[in-house]
Amino acid sequence: MSDSDRREKLLRAIEFRQIFDDRLDRIEQQTPFDSVYAVDTAESVELWELPEAEDLPVGRNARYSPTPVRTVRNALGRCDVRHEEVTFVDVGCGKGRILLLAAEFPFRRIVGVETSETLCNVARSNVKTVSQSLDGCDRIDVVRADATLFEIPDDAGLFYFYEPFSTDVSSAVLARIEDSIRRHPRKVVLCFTGRGQPDGQGSELEATPVAAAAAEMRTQWRLLEIVHSPDAEFWDSFLYEYVDQGSQV
Ligand SMILES: C[S@@+](CC[C@H](N)C(=O)[O-])C[C@H]1O[C@@H](n2cnc3c(N)ncnc32)[C@H](O)[C@@H]1O
Repeated sequence: MSDSDRREKLLRAIEFRQIFDDRLDRIEQQTPFDSVYAVDTAESVELWELPEAEDLPVGRNARYSPTPVRTVRNALGRCDVRHEEVTFVDVGCGKGRILLLAAEFPFRRIVGVETSETLCNVARSNVKTVSQSLDGCDRIDVVRADATLFEIPDDAGLFYFYEPFSTDVSSAVLARIEDSIRRHPRKVVLCFTGRGQPDGQGSELEATPVAAAAAEMRTQWRLLEIVHSPDAEFWDSFLYEYVDQGSQV
């Protein structure tokens, strides 16, 4: 790639990020979450700025950014699982917004996996704050781990992924989920949110979530539904279900 191509790519990525951040700010103002619960989830964090950045298993452009509140409630509401019997897992939970929203559903347990200790601490503090005013937060655990090495709970039935997860990372996580299902057969649903390329490449509306490409490549997963986001098409969610190969005709 020539220097000018590289420069153009970088400018496009910066422009994409600016448009994205402005849009997210507007959505956050329409559906306030942090001010309602006195938490810190809205502000994005570039992972390279964190003290532990050198040790994180993520790319240079990786960042924490929250899924909009209405998008999450809408997508989780479409997931057909027996809440009381399953653990919900947010793969890459960041500051823990999804965990707090998942607590609105009667999941048996709610687990957030996050590679950054700094973000885990913010998430734990947010859970502690909300638990003073809302019941059900005692079901939430925040685990500091690389998602590709995280031990999948035997009863995990719904996994949430929001960009930026590369197809490779997502594939490694799915392989662990598949192993877990082989050991403990059960229904499992995946929810991938966030269309588009984290590096600003490609047209966002024609893209499926980058991480969902892993489910497309693996025969065990079947696309159930695309749940349209009430916020913007970028945050559409793609739901997949595990298909037991042995029971296929
Ligand atoms: C875009 S944020 C999503 C946060 C949250 N799930 C939400 O939707 O509001 C992605 C998060 O994944 C985390 N992450 C990225 N790679 C990871 C990995 N390999 N293991 C665990 N967490 C990871 C990042 O640190 C970041 O906080």
